Amino acid sequence: MKLNIALLAGDGIGPEVIDQAVKVSDAVAAKFGHEITWKPALTGAAAIDAVGEPYPDETHEICAASDAVLFGAIGHPKYDNDPSAPVRPEQGLLKMRKKLGLFANVRPTFTFPSLLDKSPLKRERIEGTDLVFLRELTGGIYFGEKGRRDGGDTAFDNCVYTREEVQRLAKKGFELAMTRSKKLCCVDKANVLETSRLWRETVQAMEKDYPEVTVAYEFVDAVAMRLVQWPNSYDVLITENLFGDILTDEASVISGSMGLMPSASMGADIALFEPIHGSYPQATGLNIANPMATILSAAMMFENFGLQEEGAAIRAAVNKALEEGYVTEDLANGGKSYGTKEVGDWLAAQI
Ligand code: IPM
Ligand code: MN
Repeated sequence: MKLNIALLAGDGIGPEVIDQAVKVSDAVAAKFGHEITWKPALTGAAAIDAVGEPYPDETHEICAASDAVLFGAIGHPKYDNDPSAPVRPEQGLLKMRKKLGLFANVRPTFTFPSLLDKSPLKRERIEGTDLVFLRELTGGIYFGEKGRRDGGDTAFDNCVYTREEVQRLAKKGFELAMTRSKKLCCVDKANVLETSRLWRETVQAMEKDYPEVTVAYEFVDAVAMRLVQWPNSYDVLITENLFGDILTDEASVISGSMGLMPSASMGADIALFEPIHGSYPQATGLNIANPMATILSAAMMFENFGLQEEGAAIRAAVNKALEEGYVTEDLANGGKSYGTKEVGDWLAAQI
């Protein structure tokens, strides 16, 4: 297969972890007879520094013309304590999601047998956890009208959803549930919010099209609690943008390392793959960042092209590295650790 992949390394540790994912993907392409053309493009603070804009038109054109996007991380400390900065790296991310139409953010949470004792949760609670959040990504309070009123002392953010936005996300949820254990949980706050009542009503109306899927409706506050009590009672969860943002960070601690969790953002035409961790500015250039989440994001990318064996080869290499202790310092428990680049080299060699 010939693949054109836009490569958005971004800020902080982004370029270092992206380099390792490219190395491992190229090894996969060589082994399975594919041809990948990487198209690097600017984004985030790096793009603001270069051209004054976190998601430049040129980057958008490169992404839109590619088969997929592989993304590192964005964010820079110089913007963190300056909420009034006129352009911020995060705006680039939101603009990119909207312009590429990436409405479904897929965030899996699973455990690795060799890391069960690294989780802050007890082994017996998390063993067997394998759940997937589908977070709506281009609507809700993130994109509704916002502003200040009354001389600037009252601020507002509107949360808006249309039935169609809920339907297209829920459809992905039902379809995913059909390929797994046929359990779907719709997470909302329908006891308070009108948008949540629209979500619930819309999903309820779709149930008849998927008679094999059992749907549970749960309030977001209860899910926040049950997620750490009984994570393995969930399978596929669908939810709106802000709830999904919060719950997926919470879910990421179950596995014991944020440095391992990949994600995908799917649109009608294109999908983007990225680690769920941020740009980890303190580690920039130190060759200590864990590249595995980005490498597993590349595995999701192959799988999304229908290349299951290719994805499985990457997952097997990562599992082996975890079992044999070929890991960066975040997973080394004070024992021997390896650099970002060395872990990337080792994984590429395993393919
Ligand atoms: C995420 C991030 C972003 C979000 C930020 C950086 C805008 O937290 O991808 O989850 O809130 O969506
Ligand atoms: Mn987030």
